[in-house]
Amino acid sequence: MLDVIDSRYFYLHNGVVSYLFDLLPNQQLEHLYYGADLGNLDRDDLSYISLHINKASGTVKFSKEIKNFSLADRMQEYPTYGTSDFREGAVSLETGETYLYPDFKYDHFKIEKGKKREMAQPASYGNGSETITIYLKDVERQLELELSYSIFENLTAIVRKAKIINHGQQEIKVKNLQSGVLDLPNSDYNFLQLSGAWVKERHITTRPLTQGITKIESLRGASSHQENPFIALVDKNVTNDTGTIYASNLIYSGNFVSQVEVDEWGQSRLMTGINPATFCWKLAPNEEFCTPESVLFYTSHGFNGLMRQTHTFAKNHVIDQKWQKQERPIVINNWEATYFDFDEKKLMKLATQAKELGIECFVLDDGWFGKRDSDNSSLGNWTVDTRKFPQGLAHFSGQVHRLKMKFGLWFEPEMVSPDTELYQEHPDWIVRHPYSRYSVGRRQYVLDFANPEVVENIYEQMATVIKEAKVDYIKWDMNRNITEAYSPYLHSLNHPQGEFFHRYIQGVYQLYAKLLTTFPNLLIEGCASGGGRFDLGILFYSPQIWPSDDSDAAERLDIMSGTLLAYPLSTFSNHVSAVPNDQVKRVTNLKFRQEVACFGPLGYELDLNKLSTTEKEEIKEWIKWYKKNRNLLVNGIFDQLLKFDPAQNVYAWSVSNSNKQIIGFYRKFARPNESLDQYFPLKHLNSRKQYQINGRQTVAGRVLQKYGLREPYQFNASNPDTAQVSGDFQSYLYQIKAIDRKI
Ligand code: DGJ
Repeated sequence: MLDVIDSRYFYLHNGVVSYLFDLLPNQQLEHLYYGADLGNLDRDDLSYISLHINKASGTVKFSKEIKNFSLADRMQEYPTYGTSDFREGAVSLETGETYLYPDFKYDHFKIEKGKKREMAQPASYGNGSETITIYLKDVERQLELELSYSIFENLTAIVRKAKIINHGQQEIKVKNLQSGVLDLPNSDYNFLQLSGAWVKERHITTRPLTQGITKIESLRGASSHQENPFIALVDKNVTNDTGTIYASNLIYSGNFVSQVEVDEWGQSRLMTGINPATFCWKLAPNEEFCTPESVLFYTSHGFNGLMRQTHTFAKNHVIDQKWQKQERPIVINNWEATYFDFDEKKLMKLATQAKELGIECFVLDDGWFGKRDSDNSSLGNWTVDTRKFPQGLAHFSGQVHRLKMKFGLWFEPEMVSPDTELYQEHPDWIVRHPYSRYSVGRRQYVLDFANPEVVENIYEQMATVIKEAKVDYIKWDMNRNITEAYSPYLHSLNHPQGEFFHRYIQGVYQLYAKLLTTFPNLLIEGCASGGGRFDLGILFYSPQIWPSDDSDAAERLDIMSGTLLAYPLSTFSNHVSAVPNDQVKRVTNLKFRQEVACFGPLGYELDLNKLSTTEKEEIKEWIKWYKKNRNLLVNGIFDQLLKFDPAQNVYAWSVSNSNKQIIGFYRKFARPNESLDQYFPLKHLNSRKQYQINGRQTVAGRVLQKYGLREPYQFNASNPDTAQVSGDFQSYLYQIKAIDRKI
């Protein structure tokens, strides 16, 4: 998988992808290729690929021997700005007031097999992986740069990170250190991003690349509702199953930047990492700084090919693999059922009803602690509100457990309300600038998680509750962005405030790591006012995330279609909620809501006691069916059957394993004289097997593969007589199952 040829060419390949780089005449690293596997390469192949045809005119004297050389048009692995290359660089450093133009030259390399899963930082892992680290030195400035590249079995993913070490006597400031760079020889792509806002996260947005910088970023202290670190460069003729896509993501949850710069020759430079706009890290002599990991993906098989890569990578190399074997419980969450208005009796009624319907876990949301009857109080005081639970939380959770249900509990660990002892005793534990002007969000302050003492305090409080109430599941929320970022703790240590955002998110990871080390069986669901922190950093610890505060099934079609480009089905908490829906006031039928929510981990978030007997029966039957198909719906292979369109009205999703396929068709609005008159060739079937469609018709696998599934006009708006479902917000499912008859 990893070849080093003539101590000059570094070649990562695994039968599905190749990544090749070499040494430039000035001993920096040149990027040569990332794409479809090139197989074994000999010296002739390598010299052919590395032949450079000069585009740039100006040259630089790098040394006595290298006089006429320029970096301006070179594809590079880790470029620095300012020495003939005027594109943005991946690293910028300063000493005192002086900007450095570092000159990192190749020194040696190291190859390691396998990558352990270490809790301290979110990072990729995998036994079958191999990692090459290239050590580069800037002798004059006594700096070392380590660039690591990992490759995994059967995947096109290449994971990168960078580390800088100060071997000199002088303190330096790291102003920028990107995680990954990909220089490409062309720019004929659309830039795809997952954009949105609160209650409409991760919608697919595309725009063509043009000369200059196209970028997305977050400066909010979290990866954000507005942008996601995931980006893709997509062939202009891409379809669901054909076309080249290069994509990138970060295993990180804080301020990030993901950008592509197109130069005057139409070459593209993709870079991703911590956002330099809010970053400045002090590196004293002998100190080092390491970036989070970035991941590159490649496919020539369109959006479905991309999802095969991003999903497998997240499931097998980021999220703890144990969550593929352990079933995700079907939850009832009381938030939209009660909001803050509950007591033990009311909740027990909900839990008992949930149990009768087959629900497996009761999640007690916001409002169980302190004196929290609205969102303006008690965060940071993680002791039970005895007005609501007179016999304590352990008593309530005991009753839930007696129903043979798991018990889940909401926390917002990173926040504090002004009315708490925690705030009053430790006013210096919050993120707050010494200015008199400051902004408060949701009437709460952000705790200074850069300070380990703060993290320890919250850990102790949470651990006490988890132990006492035998909590099985946590919903970890985070409901405001960080404004006027300033850490009194960093100030006391004389560290630059530019370290704050990164140290804050490290504190978040530290709390996750401590909780999961003490309580290894805990399932932590991520959340940040819905999907404000849906990223690979959080998924490293939380196998699933509440994707949006918008629980309307029609809205979720877009949110999920976007999110699925980067993250697998198993990462969604999909809740069926009441109608009219609380966010958009839309009324949809229960069948539609359940058929959308079943793609991934299923849950309910409504007052079940208000439902009619027929609705309860419908839910009961649905849950029985879901349990039989849960493994497929959570861990199966996902495909989009209809092409993404910004004005999409009909969606077709499929999820498959070797024996079974479930296909969901969803339509938002009925339109006159419209028909989905299509054939859907199905993938992942065995051509030698027979399949049964919805327990009735039997068809050969090869017919379904080649001729396709006939969409039998269920939405046939052009002919109301043959339409089996009509009206807005309709759906139907196909279940295609292999039967024991070989042909
Ligand atoms: C925001 C979350 O996204 C909701 O699901 C709910 O937990 C509220 N916070 C509680 O305050």
